[in-house]
Amino acid sequence: MTTLEWADGRLRFIDQTRLPAEEIMVETTDHRVVCEAIRSLKIRGAPAIGVAAAFAVFLAVRESHCSTPPELHAVLRSAVDDLSATRPTAVNLFAALRRMEEAARASGGKSVAAILERLSAEALAIQREDVESCRRIGELGAGLIAPRSSLLTHCNAGALATAGEGTALAVIAEAARRGNVLRVFVDETRPLFQGARLTAWELVRLGIETVLITDSTAASVLRRGDVQAVVVGADRIAANGDTANKVGTYPVAVLAMRHGVPFYVAAPTSTIDAGIPDGEHIPIEERDESEVTHFGGKRIAARGVKVYAPAFDVTPGALVSAIVTERGILRPPFPESLAGVLRRGSAPGGEAP
Ligand code: MRU
Repeated sequence: MTTLEWADGRLRFIDQTRLPAEEIMVETTDHRVVCEAIRSLKIRGAPAIGVAAAFAVFLAVRESHCSTPPELHAVLRSAVDDLSATRPTAVNLFAALRRMEEAARASGGKSVAAILERLSAEALAIQREDVESCRRIGELGAGLIAPRSSLLTHCNAGALATAGEGTALAVIAEAARRGNVLRVFVDETRPLFQGARLTAWELVRLGIETVLITDSTAASVLRRGDVQAVVVGADRIAANGDTANKVGTYPVAVLAMRHGVPFYVAAPTSTIDAGIPDGEHIPIEERDESEVTHFGGKRIAARGVKVYAPAFDVTPGALVSAIVTERGILRPPFPESLAGVLRRGSAPGGEAP
């Protein structure tokens, strides 16, 4: 399955708003199309947003046909501003944009053609690194899953959300390949149903037994002892381990703690925002109220109600059992383990030192 593909100088991506009913590929050379796709969740999931944004920066500069480096830097700045305004929570977007800006800056006084080449190489590197991160996260995280486990996940942290096999779903897929997964409970994930539409679709295609539940059913499934581990992705992890992920993740973490079930967060190190001390500093996107008041284009809510529609919530680090990154498995206390993994780089052998 192709979520995002760079081919013949164009970005191709699957329109995730149409899944699972239709598999529509969009092809573009226009960075504004990519901006709109990110804003409207045609492209979604923290790492996928970062990769798409990197290619969009390259497209903006290439399509401007500017002739001098100062012109190029101005176009790049404006594209970065457009992309920065699409979605505020997933830090991978800003990390990718920063890398693209740095790549252009590092090209110094070189020609427009040389800077373009450098930008294209950087976008491809961001994509390649994400594929590799997913692979490592899957390999390391699968080691946490005991034989005959039933798992629970929220939202979609699979191939659709990354350039590779996913983060949480890479862990689940690899554990399943090792024969350790009995079934996966998938929260439908209100209000946009990333669980029902996307995660369930991916898991069924992988041949993994998948049980779709409403978000509020997670409580009784966990209380009954039917789940041995919860695995979710992340949009931004603060320096103390507080983790923003799709709204509804925090209640699952509270339930997991209440019922003694490990709660694992799987995310690449590009999702760690060492610049913010805790979850209070994570900007939480608020979505249009129609995403809550309407279902399938039809109004379901009473007229006149007010709506509060945050797209994400923050799970305190104290509820997280481990964070699986491509560089190792991080354990509490997270202020130390997160700082350590960023400082030391790769940790051979799974658990970070
Ligand atoms: O609003 P979305 O669909 O972009 O939210 C996505 C999530 O919350 C994912 O769990 C997160 O980005 C991790 S993706 C590997």
